[in-house]
Amino acid sequence: MRVTPEAKGTIHAVGLGPGAPDLMSVRADRLVRETQHIAYFRKVGRPGQARSIVDGMLRPDAQELPMEYPITTEIPVADPLYRKTLAAFYAAGATQLRALSEQGHDIAVLCEGDPMFFGSFMHLFTRLSGAAPIRIVPGIAGMAGATAAAGLPLVWGDDTLAVLAGTMPWEKLAERIRQADALVVMKCGRHLTKVRQALSEAGRLADAWLIEYATMPGERVQPLSQHNGSPAPYFSLIVVPGRGRRS
Ligand SMILES: C[S@@+](CC[C@H](N)C(=O)[O-])C[C@H]1O[C@@H](n2cnc3c(N)ncnc32)[C@H](O)[C@@H]1O
Repeated sequence: MRVTPEAKGTIHAVGLGPGAPDLMSVRADRLVRETQHIAYFRKVGRPGQARSIVDGMLRPDAQELPMEYPITTEIPVADPLYRKTLAAFYAAGATQLRALSEQGHDIAVLCEGDPMFFGSFMHLFTRLSGAAPIRIVPGIAGMAGATAAAGLPLVWGDDTLAVLAGTMPWEKLAERIRQADALVVMKCGRHLTKVRQALSEAGRLADAWLIEYATMPGERVQPLSQHNGSPAPYFSLIVVPGRGRRS
């Protein structure tokens, strides 16, 4: 039987916020509790951060669809094999979701933070747009959780905000830091020493804060200058407040 477009199920990308379950929106809460098909990304052997946030909330007959990354840090990002492997993985995930949608099932894709902000879901979105109905439920991004946890006003007056990734090559990272008013550096992890050095050379180290596990168990806020130099956890970011117009 041919399924009409109207009969297709909707793929809801559900932003869950930065970690604390009570920072989820009312809409996200409803979709997580009501939707039978629940998809999420995770590393092999891990529960997955997004899935952990909704522990105890799923309906008893929920059908879970974990999508396990075939690689994380085993292959350098610049290696063509990295892109090829992940592209095949995302294509397979999109195919699974599309098939469920065509069978008329709604699906909630659990997304840590906001789905459209450095989110893995975006790779599914580009593959599924036009092929299945998609609705996005925005979530509080990790960086908002971090500035709240640290009590740091981020942008003032005419400040611009640069959101950088610790994975960026040194030259580009250092240049953007030199140009920035307020700064957030995501994905610091193993790149913390490089980011710290770039901030120091730009004269911004004294104002930099490292926030680990914002709004999650284990939350930790410390001046970056006092950090012991060990790699930061995956869920960590650096915030440097802007210095704009204040009254
Ligand atoms: C793939 S990005 C996902 C971002 C997410 N979609 C968001 O809206 O924040 C993962 C990076 O986000 C940052 N991050 C997200 N949530 C965080 C939290 N609760 N505490 C600290 N860092 C967080 C970390 O820098 C981490 O490496």
